[in-house]
Amino acid sequence: MTPRRPWPLNVEGIAYGGDYNPEQWPLEVQLEDVRLMKEAGVGLVSVAIFSWAQLEPREGDFDFAWLDAVLDRLHMAGIGVALATATASPPPWLTRKHPEILPRLADGTVLHQGSRQSYAVASPVFRNYALGMTRRMAERYGDHPALAVWHVDNELGCHVPHDYSDAAAKAFRHWLRARYGTPAALNAAWGTAFWSQRYDSFDEILPPLSAPTFVNPTQQLDFARFSSDELLTHYRALRDVLREVTPDVPTTTNLMMSTATKWMDYFSWSQDLDLVANDHYTVARDPEAHIELAFSADLSRGVAGGEPWMLMEHSTSAVNWQPRNRAKGPGEMLRNSLAHVARGADAVMFFQWRQSAAGAEKYHSAMLPHAGEDSDVWRGTLELGRRLRALAPVRGSRVSADVALVFDYPSWWASEMEGHPTQALSYPDEAMRWYRALWQRGITVDIVSPGAVPTDHRVVIVPTLYTVDDSAAARIAEAAHEGASVLVTFFSGIVDEHDHVRLGGYPGAFRELLGVRTEEFHPLLQDETLTLDDGTRASLWSEKTRLEGAQAVRTWADGPLEGLPAVTRNRAGRGSAWYVGTRPDADGVARIVDALLDEAGVAPVAAGLPLGVEAVRRRADDGTSYLFLINHTHQDVDVAAVGHELIRGQDVSARLTVPALETAVVRER
Ligand code: GLA
Repeated sequence: MTPRRPWPLNVEGIAYGGDYNPEQWPLEVQLEDVRLMKEAGVGLVSVAIFSWAQLEPREGDFDFAWLDAVLDRLHMAGIGVALATATASPPPWLTRKHPEILPRLADGTVLHQGSRQSYAVASPVFRNYALGMTRRMAERYGDHPALAVWHVDNELGCHVPHDYSDAAAKAFRHWLRARYGTPAALNAAWGTAFWSQRYDSFDEILPPLSAPTFVNPTQQLDFARFSSDELLTHYRALRDVLREVTPDVPTTTNLMMSTATKWMDYFSWSQDLDLVANDHYTVARDPEAHIELAFSADLSRGVAGGEPWMLMEHSTSAVNWQPRNRAKGPGEMLRNSLAHVARGADAVMFFQWRQSAAGAEKYHSAMLPHAGEDSDVWRGTLELGRRLRALAPVRGSRVSADVALVFDYPSWWASEMEGHPTQALSYPDEAMRWYRALWQRGITVDIVSPGAVPTDHRVVIVPTLYTVDDSAAARIAEAAHEGASVLVTFFSGIVDEHDHVRLGGYPGAFRELLGVRTEEFHPLLQDETLTLDDGTRASLWSEKTRLEGAQAVRTWADGPLEGLPAVTRNRAGRGSAWYVGTRPDADGVARIVDALLDEAGVAPVAAGLPLGVEAVRRRADDGTSYLFLINHTHQDVDVAAVGHELIRGQDVSARLTVPALETAVVRER
C-alpha cells in the first residue's frame, strides 16, 4: 500500500463553509456574515476568487484594505480561509490593454470580457499578469493567520477548455515538438499520409480549427491532451510562486469531476495538488442524480489516490445554469453532503455563502438565501453544521471497496469523435450503466485510471476503454491473472495511444485476455434493439465475434448475428475475463453484474437494504469503522448495525431505523 499523504488542511474536524464574496456587500452585511458563519459552525471560506478588479482597479494600483479587513474579521472569528490567487477573471483594464489575451473558439470567434474566464491560458502576457497578481497575494497574505490553503484560479477550463488563439497555436507546436521531436515522428503518429496532411515543419501545424470536414483525429486527440496539460501548466506556474513565497501552505484548485466535464484529464493533475478538491452539482432533470453524485465522489477519491478529498463547491438548493432549476427537496442537501463525506470528503463547502443580489448568479442558491434566516435553506445550513461537528471523528478515515471501475479521459475524448461506427456513443453513459448497477446493489466502487488498475480488487470493470497503451492493457490483464474478475465492454482496446487501430481483429489490446476475436462491428440504428438468448434487449452496438478460447455466456437470439456470442467469459490465470460486445438494457447489465459479483464473492456493504438506500463504509487506521446510511426513499428503513450512531448520538445494539429521506452514521467500533 502506498504511504498515506497527511491531510494538509489545518481546520478542525470536517471543514465546513463555502465561497465567500464579501466585495458584493456593504460593511454591515459583512459583519452579519461573520456572526452567522459562527452560528452555523462554518470553519473555512473561499475568498477573493473573482476579486482581481477590486484588488487592482487600475494597473499597478492596489487596494488590499478591504480584503485585509475581511481576513482579519474571519480570523478573529476562528474561520480559516481558502485564499484564491484572484486570477480567475482578468479585470477589464487588462483585456482592453491586451486584447491578444482573449481566448478564441475553433471558428475564430473571440470570447470577450463582460463575463468571466476571458483569458487564453497559454498567453505569456496573461500568464505574466497572473503570476504578478499571485505573488502580490502571497506576499501580502502569506503570513496571515487565517490562511489555510491556496486556491489557484477557479475551475480551470470550466468555460474555455480549448482555446484556439495564436498563443495556444504556438504553445501547441511547442508541446508537439517536445512530444515527437521531429516532423517525421509526428507525421507517423498522426497518420498524415491520409488526405495530404504531411507536415514539413512544426511551423505548419495549427490547432484543429474549423475545417471543411473531419479534422485529423490524432491531431484532435493531441490537442485535447495539450489543452489539459496547458491548464495544468498554468496551475503549476502559479503554484510554484505560492510555494516559493509560502512553502508551508498547501495549494489546490477546484476540479470538476462528474459525468459532464470532459476535457481535463484530472488523473494527470493529481500529483500537483496538495489536496484534491472537487466541485459537484446535481442535474435537476436526472431522477437518479444521487447516483451520479456518488460516481463523482468516487472519482474524486480515485483522483486523490484513495485519500480524503475536499468538496469545494456544491449547492444548498437550485443552481441557475440548467434549463429548469429545481429547488432541492426535503433533506436532499443533507443527503448530498453526507454522501460526499461517506465517499471520502473531509470538507463540505458550497457555492456560495450568501446568495448574490446582483449579477449572473443571483438565482443560484446559497447557504444564506435571499429570504434570510427564516428559511428552510438556512435551517439546513445550521443542521449540516451540527451534523458535520458530530462527524468530526470520521476525518482521515478511508473508504474501502472491492470493485474498481476504470475511467479514462483520453478514451472519452477519442471514443466520441466523428467518423466512427456510431455517433450515438456516450462514454460516460457507458461507464454509468455499470456503475449504476453496482450502486443499486450497495457495492462501493473505486474509480481508477487505466495505468493504476489495482491488482487487489476482486472485480474490475473496464467500460469502453477505446484507447489504451500496451502497459495499461498489460496491467488490466495482470489484475485478471492475479485473481480478479475483469469485465471489458465493447469498443475497448481498439486503438493505441496515437489512435491507430490495433490490427488483426478487435478488441486488439484485449483479444488474448478475453479469448475472442471480432471481425466486424455491427452498430445498431436509432431505436433498433436486438435480443440476447436470456431475453436481454441490446441497443447501440453489436459485433461479429468468434470465440478463441472463451466461452459464450450469452448469444444473439435474433438479427444478422443470431447464434454468435454477445457476452463471453474466458479463464485468465487465477481470475477471469468477461467481454460484453453490446449495450445490454438495465436488466441485462444487472444479471451480468450479479454473475460477476457472485463469482468474485463480493457482498454489499450492508445486507438486505432496499433499493435507494446507500451504504458506504469508511475505516480509520486504528480499526474503527463508520457505516454511512443514506436513505433516498420515502420509507423508513431498518438496518442491522451495532455501535453508536453519531448524528443522533444514540447507541445501536442490533438494528437502527433510518427515517425516510434521512441519514445515519454508525461508529461500529
Ligand atoms: C462553479 C464556479 C462558481 C459558481 C458555481 C455555480 O462551480 O466555480 O464560481 O459559478 O459554478 O454553480
